[in-house]
Amino acid sequence: MKRLLLLLALSTPFLANAQPASHISWTSAMLNLVKKGNAEKGQQLAESCKSCHGDQGQGVKAETQDGDTIPAVPALAGQLATYTFKQLRDYANGDRSNDTMIGIAKNLSEQDAADVAAWFGSLPRTIGTGAAPVQTRASKMVELGDGKRILPPCFTCHGSNGQGEKMDIPALAGQQADYFANTLLAYKKTERHNDIYSRMRLIAQQLSEEEIKELAVYYQQLK
Ligand code: HEC
Ligand code: HEC
Repeated sequence: MKRLLLLLALSTPFLANAQPASHISWTSAMLNLVKKGNAEKGQQLAESCKSCHGDQGQGVKAETQDGDTIPAVPALAGQLATYTFKQLRDYANGDRSNDTMIGIAKNLSEQDAADVAAWFGSLPRTIGTGAAPVQTRASKMVELGDGKRILPPCFTCHGSNGQGEKMDIPALAGQQADYFANTLLAYKKTERHNDIYSRMRLIAQQLSEEEIKELAVYYQQLK
């Protein structure tokens, strides 16, 4: 962890000149807005999300139809409201790219984003089985990281059960594995770059595609 922080500190002068990763900064006004999100209003807004994100916000795995792959859709149920809010604003501000979600997020006001984030945050996670994780390469990465590659264990940020941490560190437990792997690959290729301080890009760049797939399966089973 110390070495990662050092790495971050070293890269700050460069980052200071670059475009910000995200236009969201966690001022107390912003935190209050999300904290006071109205889940009832959010439930109404969420009607339009169900067709893709599922009835219970459980997401959908990738599908192949006539040789074409239909990409996976992330689970939103049980996600930290602050994280969901930030992602919606990042799409709306053009800090995270995805044609579908940019169009949808631009149609939501800041208040709408806070409301819908509160609603999804109140739903239980549904897809994880909660099976006890066995010792694998993935569980080792989650619990111990890899000092040789200056990779901190995932749990230090994402929590010991993948439950996420306050503000912008998402819950990973019960996330759709196909989406999880896609988004880590997108950080790896820097196609996704809305992570403040490059926290996930620095990590994903050091993970192999095989490791990413294993981590995705590991986290999907957590409840
Ligand atoms: C037409 C399908 C579709 C609809 C409708 C849709 N989404 Fe999405 N959503 C997606 C896809 C696909 C992604 C993954 C995009 C990516 O990789 O950046 C996504 C990603 C997201 C994310 C990022 C989640 C994460 O874990 O980072 C959030 C938040 C989100 N959607 C919220 C919503 C909300 C709220 C609505 C309704 C107001 C909605 N979406 C409607 C398809 C859709
Ligand atoms: C230094 C803290 C930190 C560590 C360590 C860390 N993460 Fe993250 N992770 C974050 C933050 C912050 C975000 C959200 C960034 C953003 O806003 O896009 C994130 C986002 C993610 C996402 C995207 C989730 C979604 O719904 O789109 C995945 C997947 C992920 N991390 C997996 C991992 C894995 C696997 C590890 C261990 C190999 C790990 N992370 C280690 C801080 C961390």
